[in-house]
Amino acid sequence: MMKERLTIAMDGPAGSGKSTIAQRLAERLDYLYLNSGSMYRAMTLLSIQEGGTPTNVSMLIELAKNCRIDFLDNGKITLLNGEDVSAALRTPEIDRAIINIAKVPEIRHEMVKQQRRIGESGGIIVEGRDVTTVVFPDADLKFYINASVEERAKRRYAEQKAKGIETTLEQVEKEIRSRDQMDESREHSPLRTAEDAIIVDTTSMTINQAVDFVLNRVEES
Ligand code: DC
Repeated sequence: MMKERLTIAMDGPAGSGKSTIAQRLAERLDYLYLNSGSMYRAMTLLSIQEGGTPTNVSMLIELAKNCRIDFLDNGKITLLNGEDVSAALRTPEIDRAIINIAKVPEIRHEMVKQQRRIGESGGIIVEGRDVTTVVFPDADLKFYINASVEERAKRRYAEQKAKGIETTLEQVEKEIRSRDQMDESREHSPLRTAEDAIIVDTTSMTINQAVDFVLNRVEES
């Protein structure tokens, strides 16, 4: 029998399918969905808007301390200081600049505080790179969602093509490998598999199979 209002945490690399799985699971369970990557993206957007530079770390930390990030409509809308910035978060500019935000421990500390504020009442699916290890180490259930680099690149390439972005599979694979390298080698809160995480390899699964697999584990808990 499933306990009420669980905290479910999911980590994994880019293109593993974790955002789609987490979103669908949140809909099925009527839980809140928190995409912590969107929070780092919103913080990166703020730093660009305010003219922050990677070398002016103290200014970036002040911005992080004084901003408020919220999510509406099951995570589809990201509010940065009350303004809907959802459409501005997935751009090549943000992709390039985010490393300078995500590597600063004081900024991570502020983002973690906001994630815990959003998740304090449970009934939440949270996903990212460090949510099973750092943000919610006592989550009721933890998953590590993975897939081969080649498969993840194929998925991202298809997504980008559908959006009309001109690129090649080789280029996308190169970008994925470089993001993996950044996420895994970061000094503070790198991407790792929590010891008690259930590992889900989605390489040969359809999205529905992956959602059902995770949902079965949740229902068994
Ligand atoms: O999930 P995403 O691709 O939108 O995340 C964008 C970047 O944000 C990712 O490359 C690393 C960073 N990130 C992080 O450092 N910690 C998290 N919990 C989530 C994302």
